[in-house]
Amino acid sequence: MALALLAAFGTSARTIEEIKKGGTMLVATEGQFAPFNFFVGNQLTGFEIELTELVAKKMGVKLEWKALSFDALLAGLRQGRWDIAVASHGITDERAKAVTFAEPHYCSGGMIVAKDPAIRTIKDLAGKTVSVQTGTSYLDNVKNVPGLKEAKNFPSDTDARSALVAGRSDAWVSDRFVAIEALRKNPGLGLKMGELLFVERIAAAVTKGNTGLAAAWNKALSEVIADGSYATLSKRYFEEDIRCK
Ligand code: ARG
Repeated sequence: MALALLAAFGTSARTIEEIKKGGTMLVATEGQFAPFNFFVGNQLTGFEIELTELVAKKMGVKLEWKALSFDALLAGLRQGRWDIAVASHGITDERAKAVTFAEPHYCSGGMIVAKDPAIRTIKDLAGKTVSVQTGTSYLDNVKNVPGLKEAKNFPSDTDARSALVAGRSDAWVSDRFVAIEALRKNPGLGLKMGELLFVERIAAAVTKGNTGLAAAWNKALSEVIADGSYATLSKRYFEEDIRCK
């Protein structure tokens, strides 16, 4: 029984008290999902990176970042290899069985992007090949598209986009704001935005049952929202406030 519990909840998740004592919170992200988490040279940046810095300041802890492939992030959390994962995870029932989610830090959804202007809606995806990142909510939702020909998955979202650009898929499904930025920055690619396939709430994740850490994060996040710094940051990245309403 005790062993089963240890296996279920992990052995080395640190409490908020332990993190504060050590002084540094270990945060895992991906770094290939602009404008949320990405690298400029070897510097991690993005809306979520800067938001996490604001939240950590309110929590009174320093940050140490780890950048890993997206599908390693929640697994490592379960093993207690970092304290928290901040990488645009949508809250899903499936994931909520394995980790504990904080309050959402933005609301978005999976956007259909194609070159062919006739591919805009879920119906238009019937008989088509769609590229998505491995391990994402985009893959889960694309798999359920009626009549889909194939869901091709790629280790990074930018690879999934490249597949569309190279004509190896008919459409790419990614975050709405990622798509907006990709189209704005690469007008020459001829990509067009269709409709949202689904909507989702995006949140940081901690080891299952580490409710003290989630509560500390939530309190700090609400302070960052209350003092206006969330809105300022969001408008700088998106020209709008992307918090969940
Ligand atoms: N929002 C999507 C999901 O929950 C994709 C997140 C991808 N994040 C990333 N850093 N590549 O699965």
